[in-house]
Amino acid sequence: MTREHNSYKSLLILAAGARGAIGSTLAASISALRHDPEKVLPYLTTAGKFPWLFPQEAVNLAGWDIAAHSMTSAIREHGVLPASAWASSADEIDRIQVLPAPPANASMAAQVDQIVHDIRTLTACFPESLPVFVNLLPACGAVSPDVWQAAADIVRHVNPVVFPDMAYALGAVFAGIPIVNFTPNPIDCKALVQEAVKSSIPVAGRDGKTGQTFFKVVLASAFKARNLQVDGWYSLNILGNADGKNLMDPERASGKLANKTRLLDDILGYPVGRRYGEAAHKVHIDYYPPRGDAKEAWDVIDLNGIFDMPMSLRVNLQGRDSILAAPLVLDLARWMAALFLSGRKGLVPELGFYFKKPVGDSPPVTFQEQLNCLQVLEQACNDHVHYLPGGRL
Ligand SMILES: NC(=O)c1ccc[n+]([C@@H]2O[C@H](COP(=O)([O-])OP(=O)(O)OC[C@H]3O[C@@H](n4cnc5c(N)ncnc54)[C@H](O)[C@@H]3O)[C@@H](O)[C@H]2O)c1
Repeated sequence: MTREHNSYKSLLILAAGARGAIGSTLAASISALRHDPEKVLPYLTTAGKFPWLFPQEAVNLAGWDIAAHSMTSAIREHGVLPASAWASSADEIDRIQVLPAPPANASMAAQVDQIVHDIRTLTACFPESLPVFVNLLPACGAVSPDVWQAAADIVRHVNPVVFPDMAYALGAVFAGIPIVNFTPNPIDCKALVQEAVKSSIPVAGRDGKTGQTFFKVVLASAFKARNLQVDGWYSLNILGNADGKNLMDPERASGKLANKTRLLDDILGYPVGRRYGEAAHKVHIDYYPPRGDAKEAWDVIDLNGIFDMPMSLRVNLQGRDSILAAPLVLDLARWMAALFLSGRKGLVPELGFYFKKPVGDSPPVTFQEQLNCLQVLEQACNDHVHYLPGGRL
């Protein structure tokens, strides 16, 4: 794949799980970017970034799903957006190509082959688009990815019924396409990253940081800066979408809960609950159907000032899961396009701002560090691209 940036006129997001709550909201957002950009553009963190890249509005979507209904049926079913937000573009939205997922009973090798074939088919339909793969599959059960030393081990040992994400991730790597892992599923394992480096593609993830955890990082970073001592932090989430239902399975929730929990101690630099000799940072997720995608999060934060005097703070977020997630997917895809064109390969911990569990050994931890890293990364992309053949657009 050439890295001359001016040979690409647009972005192509290839999403696994394209008809899910996030994928279908993304479909409506991409259509809005074309026809009514003010509905989406001002909410993007990449708005105005990478002016040498194709325009922000030039985005296409394609992908895979096991659900066979139309994209507009998916939008209706998830109930994230009112019809007034997308109905005038319904035909265009339904023309988005969503291919069937590989058969669940096919071997991992056969699934990877199919994904590579599908990627070639989809990218051929958008010859002037730079493709980026985005993983939007449901949270999967516990897997231990670090036992796989090479891609061949993944193909041989991973059961695609338990961990279908890996077939898509390997397919993307073999097709030379940058990867964003928005799920808590550990596709960014050693074996995959080795292959990504060989294929010269960047890999970002894991687990999009959209609502409660985003505010947790901001607040915890502020407490750390003021040296207020956090004594305990209780977090509850209620949500009624398919993700929430899926997370009622304790095994499937375990990765997500670990991602939501461990970052607090990392930011503060001490274990919350140390005076009790046990963890006093608790995170719960509860499926609550009436809420749908309009998730609610409660935080009770206990903290101490001088003389150990106790204080307390309550945070109640009435958020919307997919409304917060879809623009982040657009942002991440644009980042990956810029990183790919500037020659970045392997893990990208500097995108920690966007993730609950940023990849890599020493990702930025506090909010300030995460913002600083983005600035440095943006500059690095801009500098590299400047020297590519063709120069700036
Ligand atoms: N919404 C958020 O704020 C947020 C934040 C962080 C992480 N996430 C993660 O993002 C992911 C997607 O979230 P969502 O709310 O869109 O979930 P969802 O359940 O609505 O969508 C998942 C989609 O994947 C499809 N699917 C299942 N197995 C498949 C397969 N083998 N191949 C292709 N498609 C398949 C399903 O049919 C469904 O359409 C989840 O892992 C979630 O935990 C979401």
